[in-house]
Amino acid sequence: MKIEQQHGLSFDELDELVRPAPEIVEFEKVALKMVSRRGFLGGGASIGASAFVIGSTTLAAGNALAAGTGHSESRLAFNMVKANALDTITVPEGYKWEVVASWGDPLFSNAPAFNAATGGSGASQELAFGDHNDGMAFFTRNGKQVMAINNEYTNENTLHPDRADGMPTTADDVRKNKAAHGVSIIEVDQRGGKWGIVQDSPFNRRITADTEMDITGPARGHKWMQTSDDPKGLVAKGTWNNCGNGQTPWGTYLTCEENFNGYFTASDKHYVMPDAFKRYGLSTEGRYNWAMADSRFDLVKEPNEPNRFGYVVEIDPMDPTSRPKKRTALGRFKHENAELTIASNGHVVVYLGDDERGEFLYRFVSKHKYLAGGNNRDLLEEGTLYVAKFHDNNRGEWLALTPKTTGMTESEIAIHTRMAASKVGATTMDRPEWVAAHPHKAEVYCALTNNKNRGVKPNAGGDSTPASGPNPRVKNNFGQIVRWMPMSGDHTHIEFKWDLFVLAGNPAVYDDAYAGSSNVNQDNMFNSPDGLRFDSKGLLWIQTDGNYSNEKEFKGQGNNQMLVGDPETGEIRRFLVGPKECEITGATWNADRTTMFIGVQHPGEKGDSHWPDGGMSVPRSSVVAISRNDGAVIG
Ligand code: FEO
Ligand code: CA
Ligand code: CA
Repeated sequence: MKIEQQHGLSFDELDELVRPAPEIVEFEKVALKMVSRRGFLGGGASIGASAFVIGSTTLAAGNALAAGTGHSESRLAFNMVKANALDTITVPEGYKWEVVASWGDPLFSNAPAFNAATGGSGASQELAFGDHNDGMAFFTRNGKQVMAINNEYTNENTLHPDRADGMPTTADDVRKNKAAHGVSIIEVDQRGGKWGIVQDSPFNRRITADTEMDITGPARGHKWMQTSDDPKGLVAKGTWNNCGNGQTPWGTYLTCEENFNGYFTASDKHYVMPDAFKRYGLSTEGRYNWAMADSRFDLVKEPNEPNRFGYVVEIDPMDPTSRPKKRTALGRFKHENAELTIASNGHVVVYLGDDERGEFLYRFVSKHKYLAGGNNRDLLEEGTLYVAKFHDNNRGEWLALTPKTTGMTESEIAIHTRMAASKVGATTMDRPEWVAAHPHKAEVYCALTNNKNRGVKPNAGGDSTPASGPNPRVKNNFGQIVRWMPMSGDHTHIEFKWDLFVLAGNPAVYDDAYAGSSNVNQDNMFNSPDGLRFDSKGLLWIQTDGNYSNEKEFKGQGNNQMLVGDPETGEIRRFLVGPKECEITGATWNADRTTMFIGVQHPGEKGDSHWPDGGMSVPRSSVVAISRNDGAVIG
């Protein structure tokens, strides 16, 4: 597959192309296990033989979403937005939206204005907001409001509009492309009632694919981490494909490297790909052309460079001079987000999804304990990784990845995490995207976005993918949200109970398991849950990154969207519909929660959008602020 043919593919489409299709083994030829819709009641109901009921919890007093909307019986008391395919954002009556920052907006007054005709230059992009914003977090200190925002990847058609097929073709194109990736840190404020970037703020900073960062944890200094630029394996250059995020109680930002593999190529067509690289989806012809100007992206010239990516990176957004730290103790895989919570015994627990078909769900437990007001800076440097094993009886367990359980060293587990997890027999999942922990009780949710290979073929490591447990449907194009409750309310406990909060589906097209669970109907249906965040009231915000064709089995589902679910009742309502050809991703709130920020990523990824500027303008990924007309709390 030539690079130009790969252009425009999503990262999971690229994975499908570069992987040699594994043989379908006998045990994968599972018949469709018919799942009764009634078997998957959402919200408080149970499935399977070992029924359990999620105890009702008294939530914080008051509910902004319920206020004054005349739906006192529901905590989701806004009028649901109808699915649509409009090229704008639709929010419920009583709410409004505005753009805060868009790809190419200058962070500094000495940077040139956004240039739609050229997509800017390497120098201008290094001083401007990156492309394809994804996860983000809001920080407040001494009256300053700072946002850290991931810039996952790029729309080559708008970034390189004057290049054939949109591919970077000069060294400056590569510089621009690398600078459009990474993280944008911006101070924001409300001037004249409108949110925007504070230009020239000392907090404004771009972290890109070329920013130096310390390698910490078990992989630091290991021979697999050593390169000609960094013979000791201590300092990595850059971060890219920064997908979801996390935030720590000690004031730092966690950015998660996801499809890091798609950036490497091999200059020699006889290059033999090592098995360890195959497991991570490396190919000889990646999606970008960075090796043209930077030899570390050539697998032939720098064979260890890919081992230095696929981690969670910790950044102090309030200290613009600080060096980001790669936290290799949290494992190397296609990290979606990093949901951090403090367990009842004081250990830091981080839940982590590996977003690829048939990969796994992980948990990190810190060695040392969190101390409020203490020095917690390096809690993510040391600890134990676990991987989830789900049983069909609604029970599950966390399997520790240690030298004893895997026969691998701690460094090897940190670098070859997927292989370690396969060795202990973890459950292959339907693409784990965001994980969200309930703010008021020990209950955790993970979006399993979809998996067309479920029950069809094994994962890249050869592990089988039978339809069972929390992944009950073969050829799962709709996705589901699984939740688990650690035993004794202890996030460090080895065992948990689980059920499904929702199985997405289309009840207008199907009347079987693909219609979805009973809390899905023709009014609120959606596909491919991805972003998940809890608000302070314990309501679950669900963002989609799915099929927006509005055809066939997706008919009636419209553009990608954001919904709100009530974990207590299972009720789900659509809150927002995005513009054409986007996904909705990333969510955070300002300190008083009168504004919710969400991301609109890749509007017009196939060329059919002019959002947000309208007319014939080029589409631009943007951060959007949502608030209530009456200025009350939102979430
Ligand atoms: Fe970047 Fe799995 O989404
Ligand atoms: Ca995602
Ligand atoms: Ca996704």
